Amino acid sequence: MKKKIIEAMFISVWIVYLSLPTGCKSESQAEGTDKELYDKARETTGFTWYKKSDALLNTTSGSGHSFPYLRTRYNQIAAAKLDDTGKIVAGSTFAEGSLIVKEFHDSSRKLARYAILFKESGNPDADSNGWVWGYINSDGTVAQSSVKKGDGCNSCHNQAGNIDYMLMNKYFP
Ligand code: HEC
Repeated sequence: MKKKIIEAMFISVWIVYLSLPTGCKSESQAEGTDKELYDKARETTGFTWYKKSDALLNTTSGSGHSFPYLRTRYNQIAAAKLDDTGKIVAGSTFAEGSLIVKEFHDSSRKLARYAILFKESGNPDADSNGWVWGYINSDGTVAQSSVKKGDGCNSCHNQAGNIDYMLMNKYFP
């Protein structure tokens, strides 16, 4: 009798093990809006770098992002809000179609992840300010899907001193 119970327990543990999903959802390849954002971020022409420099910057202590290096670029529409020094003009609100890509680089200074802000109010994944939040690894796997509408991102990005959610000016004045 005891042996039967142990046998049954063993089998049920095995069944549970076999039915576990093979890949974690957060590691799946980008699709839908995430794929669109990934493709936009991988494009490198037509962008302006923050403070006109493509140098890698050290991630600040205020950053919610765990990589050591970063640099940020703006597509042509977003760059209209940059001043002569390449910083965002105070009080700016970004126009529809603005794309801001923050590149994360790992300790060997290799591109590892994109953090993306794309203004498209009509997008089903946009937050109430029209921003779509992308968090995608350089290999195309999703770190946090845009369907979450910047959950966990916007609560930090709306801190005092932000400009339409942007924090580069505050942390790299
Ligand atoms: C704990 C605070 C915090 C969280 C959470 C956070 N960020 Fe950031 N983010 C920052 C800071 C600070 C900067 C300025 C650069 C730096 O120091 O890393 C920044 C910069 C950025 C930028 C460059 C544009 C700019 O000027 O702000 C983008 C794009 C971005 N984050 C996207 C995201 C996304 C997407 C998420 C969620 C997956 C997220 N962030 C979560 C703090 C945060």
